[in-house]
Amino acid sequence: MVAPTTPRSGDPISPASHAATVAAPGDRPRRLVLGTGNASKVREIRAILGGSGWELLTPSEAGVDIAPVAETGRSYVENAVAKATAYVRASGLPSLADDSGLEVDALGGRPGVLSARYGGPGMDDQRRYERLLEELAGVPLSRRTARFRATVAVARPGNQPIVREGVVEGRIALEPRGANGFGYDPVFLLPGGQTMAELGDEKQRISHRALALAALRDVLRDLNR
Ligand code: IMP
Repeated sequence: MVAPTTPRSGDPISPASHAATVAAPGDRPRRLVLGTGNASKVREIRAILGGSGWELLTPSEAGVDIAPVAETGRSYVENAVAKATAYVRASGLPSLADDSGLEVDALGGRPGVLSARYGGPGMDDQRRYERLLEELAGVPLSRRTARFRATVAVARPGNQPIVREGVVEGRIALEPRGANGFGYDPVFLLPGGQTMAELGDEKQRISHRALALAALRDVLRDLNR
């Protein structure tokens, strides 16, 4: 998963209209840096953690401009913690980062932690999922079981990182469908028969990242007490 902080979605990240409103009058909500430049992820994170009592800032809103953190860890946890920690160092503020990937059983769990690099450099999302479909050609739907896994880490100055994980099970579709989402969404078939890219806002309830973030929401609330 290379260049995690490089924007991969064409649309701009919306301004900080997400400031939490639960702080007592006169108190500023505590600030949390979202260690990603991916606008889709920022939207998902704000949808789920808005109301957790934290002001959720993009790196640019926090005045942080760091080089993409190399995702050289052998696990999602290592990568998520490395990214969150880099943003703590740069900003002095608590920071959140995630790492995620797609695990395909017929490929022995690949591409997994290397999902962003699957197929080699210079490929866009579409080429990557087309490559995946090519690699799975001839594999029947019954053997195309797969899952998205996400790890979310919150690092704070002087504290151990807090880590939560979310998983969503599905299958790799025989052909792409749907125009929403990003990455492998068009070929990730959910048990209900839709691909992840055919979901609208519902993705923010059922996705691997949503589940990991939901598990973090109460932790963040408690940290703010
Ligand atoms: P990263 O966590 O941003 O490094 O992403 C790892 C890889 O998994 C990227 O290629 C993403 O496109 C893919 N990925 C992560 N989350 C999702 C998702 O929600 N939908 C589709 N692909 C995803």
